[in-house]
Amino acid sequence: MIINEKYVFDPQIEIDQATMEEIVRRQANNIDPNSPIHHHRWVKDEPYLISIREKYPFLSEIYSLYVFPAGLQVEIHTDSKRSTVLNIPVLNLENTITTFYKVIDEEYQPFNKQSKILMEYDSKAVVPDYSYTMLKPLILNASIPHSISVNGNLPRTIISWGMKKNYQEAMEFFKNQNGLTSS
Ligand SMILES: [Fe+2]
Repeated sequence: MIINEKYVFDPQIEIDQATMEEIVRRQANNIDPNSPIHHHRWVKDEPYLISIREKYPFLSEIYSLYVFPAGLQVEIHTDSKRSTVLNIPVLNLENTITTFYKVIDEEYQPFNKQSKILMEYDSKAVVPDYSYTMLKPLILNASIPHSISVNGNLPRTIISWGMKKNYQEAMEFFKNQNGLTSS
């Protein structure tokens, strides 16, 4: 896979797949009644996630558990509350395509439609620039417009974990850690 690091990079984090599958099974219905956002889960409830956050303390204390049904199209958007996200594939990612877009209309203002979590973009204001299928943990720049297309027949499950670093800072951190010089 050729990665376009303007949008996404490989932090080379080792994640145990079987443990992640157990976590999503355990946490599937563990919804915090005090949280208005039903996909939020607490890191403190899962020792394996606590151990990852001990290594990378800039990861948030909450993460999102997303189960997207087959056929779902997530329209072009930016994540308004978080700019940089570690996404961890768990189940059925083979047929999901994420696309990043370039904004061609510089005057264009995205809008809040259904939720306050997403800023949505009209497809006339952007052009697709890069698409990929996530088959390992990746960090993405969620402040750039992107869309998700869940193809195939099975629901796609990921853990999506925000962080207190912007995209450039995260890239520098992981490249240094991995012994690579940042560009
Ligand atoms: Fe997003």
